[in-house]
Amino acid sequence: MRLDKYLAEAAQCTRSESRELIRKGRVSVNGAVCRRPEQQVSEMDSIALDGKSRPRQAFVYIMLNKPAGVVSASADKRDTTVVDLVHSAYPRRELFPAGRLDKTSTGFVLITDDGAFAHDILAPRHHVPKTYRVTIDTPLTREMAEGFARGVVLADRVQLAPAEVSPLTADGRTVRVVLHQGVYHQIKRMFGVYGAGVDQLHREAIGSVWLDQDLAPGQWRELTEAEVAAIAGR
Ligand code: URA
Repeated sequence: MRLDKYLAEAAQCTRSESRELIRKGRVSVNGAVCRRPEQQVSEMDSIALDGKSRPRQAFVYIMLNKPAGVVSASADKRDTTVVDLVHSAYPRRELFPAGRLDKTSTGFVLITDDGAFAHDILAPRHHVPKTYRVTIDTPLTREMAEGFARGVVLADRVQLAPAEVSPLTADGRTVRVVLHQGVYHQIKRMFGVYGAGVDQLHREAIGSVWLDQDLAPGQWRELTEAEVAAIAGR
């Protein structure tokens, strides 16, 4: 691809900013300054900006701690989206959430621009388990736990796959739920079968990767390569 395109992606700047950097002689290709934005380069070339190597990342994978009130979408006319929270750091990327949380829910949302990866981790045949901490308005009963373990039938007759639920607090109102499928409003509807309401819902983990405790609501960081591989089951 052209050097200016490569640099715009690697340095996360616009094409015109990238051309400016190249014309100013701040960019080198395989050790030699190159002032031609149209120069063809490939992944095999070593591109540096101000002497610092700038490998081009094919895709980005972001762990966001979604705050309540933010919607799991790329764009929305009314509400702030999860992509709005990270967009300024990636102006050139077409980011989207790989899986959704309700507007009132909080916790781990994975944002990426890798469509094949998102498709793989959300595909029903290979659905990556998701772990939630849920506060309900009545104590967890044995009937609920046994029903979830068997797989409850929702009000609209959808038969759910087995899900694990275990109490986290002595009063039985804060529980951990592990889901192996992604049905709309699944946890709220599962508790709804037993007349229980959900007060708070926080996603703690996707696969074996837990939400970083250092991330306050609204904060994010990129996933490491090992974390991406763990989520993808590679
Ligand atoms: N189940 C729900 O009901 N809501 C969520 O946000 C996630 C799972």
